[in-house]
Amino acid sequence: MAESLASQLFRPVEATTAFKPVKVTVVGVGAVGMACAFSLVQQGLVSELALVDIDKSKMEGEVLDLQHGMVFTSPVKVTGSPGPESSAGSDLVIITAGVRQREGEPRLSLVQRNVNIYKSLIPKLVELSPDTLFLVVSNPVDVLTYVTWKLSGLPAHRVFGSGTNLDSSRFRVLLAERLDVAPSSVHGWVIGEHGDSSVPVWSGVNVAGVPFKQVCPTFGTPDDPEKWIESHKQVVDGAYEVIRLKGYTCWAIGLSVANLTQCIFRNEKKVVAISTLVKGLHGVEDDVFLSVPCVLGRQGLDRMVVQSLTEEERANVLKSAKTLHEVQESIQF
Ligand SMILES: NC(=O)c1ccc[n+]([C@@H]2O[C@H](COP(=O)([O-])OP(=O)(O)OC[C@H]3O[C@@H](n4cnc5c(N)ncnc54)[C@H](O)[C@@H]3O)[C@@H](O)[C@H]2O)c1
Repeated sequence: MAESLASQLFRPVEATTAFKPVKVTVVGVGAVGMACAFSLVQQGLVSELALVDIDKSKMEGEVLDLQHGMVFTSPVKVTGSPGPESSAGSDLVIITAGVRQREGEPRLSLVQRNVNIYKSLIPKLVELSPDTLFLVVSNPVDVLTYVTWKLSGLPAHRVFGSGTNLDSSRFRVLLAERLDVAPSSVHGWVIGEHGDSSVPVWSGVNVAGVPFKQVCPTFGTPDDPEKWIESHKQVVDGAYEVIRLKGYTCWAIGLSVANLTQCIFRNEKKVVAISTLVKGLHGVEDDVFLSVPCVLGRQGLDRMVVQSLTEEERANVLKSAKTLHEVQESIQF
């Protein structure tokens, strides 16, 4: 039999070192899942990418579409499957699968519907990738991160949610716009629940270590004549506004997830606001996940930062925790 073209073209060399690819799985290839997948590929953060979605046709189309672009990026081996099979051996599993709220549907009912999806996915995903980290993105992200932690049986430092990393980014962008400086030069944190009860830490907002509260004591309060408090309202309303205008949000969350992924695989140990088990911090007594600044690296969540909160900020975090705990209590596992 004639030798194949490949065997005539290449002469093998003895490989001496084993190559361990970085493999990431994105579960759910909707708007958010594909924005995450595209950002990861575009930024050259992974060598293998698996896409999982029960919508087989869409999943296959997205796999092919990404594969066709590999001349223009660092090559990534893109695979996919309707069930979790293609995720085997992942270092990181990003979960964006979920259903959207039906008209008139209460939030709690959405939680239970997404919990049911997670129940069908998480145990199998852990079985196929016992060493993986989990990054939860589907909403309500804090509750679903708790659910993933429960269903996976993994230690809490390996299960975290995208949380208020995006809210903090929106916050800094809005403050920076008004000050005409780069967003990366304005330091400020939004913590707590990703959503309506998120907590802006006004006491810590600063440029070059100069706390705004020191310059203007009413900063972040309703008495402030410059109404900086509106910036947080805009953060909370931001997602609703994007959804009103284009139907869904995707690019900013995709970039936020890529940023967290980079932090992990380059073991950057950057401080990022992600959703984690905060029991024992700021007076939280229950097994609740919400966002605080955390050190993130290759092992997952490395440490939490203990911020010096004002009494009011601490009370708001506790309120966030109570809301989330009440939702958790209603979940049927
Ligand atoms: N955390 C954040 O900051 C943030 C930001 C934006 C959106 N979200 C959330 O992300 C989620 C996804 O949003 P979207 O706009 O991409 O929705 P979408 O409807 O476009 O996509 C969801 C995908 O999940 C898939 N899916 C459903 N059940 C599945 C299962 N059992 N296994 C595999 N795949 C399954 C669907 O087929 C669909 O392709 C939503 O919950 C949304 O609220 C979170």
